[in-house]
Amino acid sequence: MSHVLITGAASGIGREIGLAYARRGESLTIADRDAEALAAAGEAMARAGAADVGQLASDLSVARNAEALVAEAWDRAPVDVLVNSAGIYPATPFLELDATTWDRVQNINTRAPLLLTVALAKRAVAAGTAPSIVTISSGASLRSRPGAAPYSTSKAAVEVAMRSAALELGEHGIRVNCVSPGFVVVDSAANPVTDEYADAVGQNPLGRKGSPEDIARAVLWIAGDEAGWITGAVLRVDGGSSAGTTALPLHWASNLAADDADDAAGADGADDAAGVPVAEASGAASGSTDATGVGA
Ligand SMILES: NC(=O)c1ccc[n+]([C@@H]2O[C@H](COP(=O)([O-])OP(=O)(O)OC[C@H]3O[C@@H](n4cnc5c(N)ncnc54)[C@H](O)[C@@H]3O)[C@@H](O)[C@H]2O)c1
Repeated sequence: MSHVLITGAASGIGREIGLAYARRGESLTIADRDAEALAAAGEAMARAGAADVGQLASDLSVARNAEALVAEAWDRAPVDVLVNSAGIYPATPFLELDATTWDRVQNINTRAPLLLTVALAKRAVAAGTAPSIVTISSGASLRSRPGAAPYSTSKAAVEVAMRSAALELGEHGIRVNCVSPGFVVVDSAANPVTDEYADAVGQNPLGRKGSPEDIARAVLWIAGDEAGWITGAVLRVDGGSSAGTTALPLHWASNLAADDADDAAGADGADDAAGVPVAEASGAASGSTDATGVGA
């Protein structure tokens, strides 16, 4: 049986990760700023089969609380898995940004996972144990969006911080990875989003919105022994949305011109045997990015 510490476990993705570990009969310590929702989540996890559930109300925007949280969790039992899921994603127009908003987002989304990782790693190295650490980052680390300068920065930063941790903690057998969700539908009091935003940001090649269960499965896998040679990784669990954008038309102007030429020449006209339009094939041969569409 493992002892799993999860932040942000009162709601959304963190709560679902707790339920997934509970169904495996693990021992849980769950933490969140929202004590009332945390208590309800703890009850649900106990019902789902957790060996035991410790609840620690903690505001991780306060630096010292990270060390205190790990100390209290470790007092219950050595921590085998840490999942950093607590996070905020406020939408702040760029022209309204100020230091307070910036600092709050960085402190919760980046500094807290970093300090929790340091605090846990210190104890683990001293005790000779090798916990697995997973931080929930975001596809926003790759692609920003309106109102998300602080959020995107915080998630890009936490991915790099966790890669740095992986480099330095590898010699102790401590694995450090990120799981980066695409848009996932959660019923969040802390992070409400409009239906309009959800529909727009939820587009992806697989064509359905993600669920907290999709993320929990990935977290349990990468934290577990089956992923024993993986560290410093960012696992994108996003229906393919980080692969690129689907919200573009297939044809650029040069392709349309080739199609017109095709139409004029008839069915066996301008395409080569592989069906590649003339403009694209000749562009590739000459190294032109415009003709291939790559440089558009
Ligand atoms: N839902 C998505 O589409 C999505 C996509 C990518 C990444 N994420 C990331 O997943 C994580 C979980 O988000 P979610 O969507 O489940 O949202 P959520 O609001 O349902 O869960 C976040 C939890 O973090 C807690 N929290 C916030 N500030 C805290 C603080 N200062 N101290 C302690 N706890 C605090 C909240 O109370 C809440 O319970 C976040 O890190 C978020 O950035 C979410």
